[in-house]
Amino acid sequence: MDAALISSTDRVDESLLSRCPGLRAVCSFSVGYNHIDVGACTRHGVMATNTPGVLTDSVADFAVCLTLATCRRMTEGEAMLRRGEWKGTHLKELLGVDLHHATVGICGFGRIGQGIAKRLKGFEPRILYCTRHRCAPEVERELQVSFATKEGILRESDIVILILPYTQETHHYIGVPELALMKRSAVLINVARGGVVDDAALIEALKARQIFAAGLDVYENEPKLNPGLLELTNVVLSPHIASASEPTRQAMAMAAAQNCVAAFASGSPPNLLNPEVLKQKA
Ligand code: 8YV
Repeated sequence: MDAALISSTDRVDESLLSRCPGLRAVCSFSVGYNHIDVGACTRHGVMATNTPGVLTDSVADFAVCLTLATCRRMTEGEAMLRRGEWKGTHLKELLGVDLHHATVGICGFGRIGQGIAKRLKGFEPRILYCTRHRCAPEVERELQVSFATKEGILRESDIVILILPYTQETHHYIGVPELALMKRSAVLINVARGGVVDDAALIEALKARQIFAAGLDVYENEPKLNPGLLELTNVVLSPHIASASEPTRQAMAMAAAQNCVAAFASGSPPNLLNPEVLKQKA
């Protein structure tokens, strides 16, 4: 019996599985699992696991970090300094968008989306959220968030944060029509997955100043970037590092290893994505 420890850049699909007949488990150190064809794993009798929970706080921290960096043009300012072009403070230089008291729309409101809302409270924003299953009224009250439609969020938000899973339904969740609904002063943040945003459409919108700026941690066709992104100044880019703190990556590695050991030992790993596979064995 073989098991594979993988990351989100390793694709597990029908073609790979059919070439690995001894494989019985694929254990990803990621919460997202769009890189794994779970149905194909089940058909091949392969257990698939992920690492939910352990990265929630680090990713939520990073979402706020990327939001602030984008709103306040941190990397643009740093690049200007590095080029030796700063001539002293100019009242109209590098003016950004305020996070405090902003209307923030969070698309996707699972553990991480809620973690972002919790962290944003101190900025006294108005928070709108959308998700497949509306939260209980107590949760909405505690987090001070209001349920809204996707369209409502796009029209009303100063900042839109994407933290939803990538599926067939969320492919190009933000494309030409959605960008057209957003405010010209709006900031878009993607800490979800590449493919949730149509990168080509976003590049055009940023070029045309149809929205103010974007902060991206994830991209279509990772690790390749659409070269158009690199030519823009109104975008803050990071290389898919939202969960990359020392303790969190340790915890993710441990969770993935525990899933792997349990797959061998008990045949029932804690974060099994396809429990149907166990029925096949029984
Ligand atoms: C991972 C992620 O660190 O967990 C996820 O879904 O996107 C990141 O936290 C990265 O994908 C490594 O597997």
